[in-house]
Amino acid sequence: MSIDQHTEVDPDKLMQFVFRAVGEVGATLNAALVVMGDKLGLYQALAESGPVTPDQLAARTGTPERYVREWLNAQAAGDFVSYEPETGRYFLPPEQAMALTDASSPAYLPGFFQLALGSVMDSPRIMEAARSGIGFGWHEHGTDVLDGCERFFRPGYNANLISQWLPALDGVVSKLERGALVADVGCGHGSSTILMAQAFPASTFVGTDYHEGSIQTARQRASDAAVDGRVRFETAAASAYAGGGYDLVTMFDCLHDMGDPLGAARHVRGSLKPDGTWMIVEPYAEDRVEGNLNPVGRAYYAFSTLLCTPASLSQEVGLALGAQAGEARIKDVVTAAGFTRFRRAAQTPFNLVFEARP
Ligand SMILES: C[S@@+](CC[C@H](N)C(=O)[O-])C[C@H]1O[C@@H](n2cnc3c(N)ncnc32)[C@H](O)[C@@H]1O
Repeated sequence: MSIDQHTEVDPDKLMQFVFRAVGEVGATLNAALVVMGDKLGLYQALAESGPVTPDQLAARTGTPERYVREWLNAQAAGDFVSYEPETGRYFLPPEQAMALTDASSPAYLPGFFQLALGSVMDSPRIMEAARSGIGFGWHEHGTDVLDGCERFFRPGYNANLISQWLPALDGVVSKLERGALVADVGCGHGSSTILMAQAFPASTFVGTDYHEGSIQTARQRASDAAVDGRVRFETAAASAYAGGGYDLVTMFDCLHDMGDPLGAARHVRGSLKPDGTWMIVEPYAEDRVEGNLNPVGRAYYAFSTLLCTPASLSQEVGLALGAQAGEARIKDVVTAAGFTRFRRAAQTPFNLVFEARP
């Protein structure tokens, strides 16, 4: 191919790209509108009311009509809300109602948008970190990243953790039923820890995270769920959490965030019983870049740029595996730490679940 062929602009392709970009700008702004609709109760009211005019929705939510009307039109243009031109009324189709208002559904989306918007809101400080080459720790993020992360992951854990992922591990469920000691490392606000504690009342759970603020929230969540007698939350880095003789150590979407995942893996190895199990849940990824060039990979590489990679770079070693590390790189870390058995135990379109044994 000649240089001219590389540099010659095809006007049709140019316009196609510009129009695609218009859609992307609308989608970028829609993250703020979805969070607005969630926090102002607009989706919830729409789901409960059925078709309404803007002034009816305004009255139901106590929000000024002019804001509501403009928001509804943006939502209708993006196909999040449907519009009836004959009546001037707006409604949520049942699928959108489920995805935008039913927190018990695996398809629940508001946390995903809150996490995305929180990441964008923190991006000026992340850009400064990128300029100077330093990291940006998880503890430095605003509440929308921390709460959005919890709300984003929880529906997937509700749908899969007890029914699919733990049963995919060799002999783990029977140990949990009899009474096991479990460490949930990098537990954040503790959704996974609390879910396991609710399902296995004979077992004892210790959730740890290096971020003191997340641990305080996790304690509150455990108290709200009335499992605080069997769940303990402690502030500790993954390479230094206390105790030993664990039957099960879990890590949910956090190994790749750590600066020194190998150091953490060695600590897990030392803290497990000889027949213990380490469950590692990671974002779904193929090993090669080209395998991740799809919508899920796009979202994960973007989160990885703004959240996971800076988080790892902010810590000692700064290995920065990235959210799209993939099985081969995770296996390298696990086996380098002395684990002799490693396998992919389960997967979803969004997660890989690995089992590692000493
Ligand atoms: C993406 S969040 C996942 C939180 C939680 N596991 C969940 O699934 O909701 C990553 C978590 O890893 C924690 N983390 C990062 N580096 C850590 C380290 N070195 N030791 C312990 N926790 C760490 C962060 O504080 C954060 O809570």
